[in-house]
Amino acid sequence: MALLGLGYAGFGSADLDDWRQFATGLVGLQAVERGNSLLAFRMDDRKQRIVIDRAMPEGARFFGWEVADADALDELAARLEEAGVAVTAGPQALADARRVLGLISFHDPAGNRLEAFYGAEIDDTPFRPGRSISGFRTGPLGLGHAVLSVEHIDPMMAFYVDVLGFGLSDYMQKPFRAYFFHVNARHHSLALIETGRNGMHHLMVELFSLDDVGQSYDVALSEPDRVSVTLGRHTNDLMTSFYARSPSSFMIECGWGGREIEPKTWQPFELRDGPSLWGHERLWLPPADREVAREMRMRAAAEGRRAPVQVMEGNYRLMSGTCAWWDEVSKAG
Ligand code: FE2
Repeated sequence: MALLGLGYAGFGSADLDDWRQFATGLVGLQAVERGNSLLAFRMDDRKQRIVIDRAMPEGARFFGWEVADADALDELAARLEEAGVAVTAGPQALADARRVLGLISFHDPAGNRLEAFYGAEIDDTPFRPGRSISGFRTGPLGLGHAVLSVEHIDPMMAFYVDVLGFGLSDYMQKPFRAYFFHVNARHHSLALIETGRNGMHHLMVELFSLDDVGQSYDVALSEPDRVSVTLGRHTNDLMTSFYARSPSSFMIECGWGGREIEPKTWQPFELRDGPSLWGHERLWLPPADREVAREMRMRAAAEGRRAPVQVMEGNYRLMSGTCAWWDEVSKAG
């Protein structure tokens, strides 16, 4: 697969001060000043992962998909052109601004600006989170996931799957139509939600510790109207998360404990239990759809739907005290 992961993302906004406060104080990103018009954020050892650009109009956005090297970038450009997609080679000044060695740009059928790049620059100073968090899970999984609102999913899916090589992870029709796509072991690096209009829905960042997310949730709860989706757990990527309203018109999902998949053998399927095992009251959904979502969660509760937590080495202790009752429950799944 040519694309390795979501390497970076950028958004147009005039509210650099609000973004600095929100991204450092609530999410835990590290702010890096880049002159008057640009605010960059670090999540790890890379020079930047998320960019807020005052020179771009509100609502404008770009996504940087990573490839292995210059050859992979050339191959991707050729594949796109073969599919009739207009490709622009990134000038040196743009590669410098993105802190990468080389890139190309093109657009998806909904008009989202996509970039593909290789050679992200590593900073020579360690990552210093904006708040005292344990850090962000990035590396080979990329920065997290991007979720786009789209008018129609089908033409977008054809482009992302057939041209760019994304794999479908799973999809749902209720309480809203949503499709989830992977390019690496992260359950989804991209998702499309059919809302009837094209836009940015949310960007997810994954933290190493559940307590990081809980503390971010406390920060969000201390501000009026900051929480857009309450704390909950997803059925498909098993992420425990909440969504905060960003200074732009989309949300940031702060998550923990996302599952990994094996892309080579994964088979897509339809999700019939709704998007969340519990929680995730969605303020962005129309009331009728919220009601459907609530009914699905109540059914999940009645049926006792659950899934094991997904943990990393060094971030758990095995508990003793198992008993015959639990042995039966765990055997039953
Ligand atoms: Fe998400």
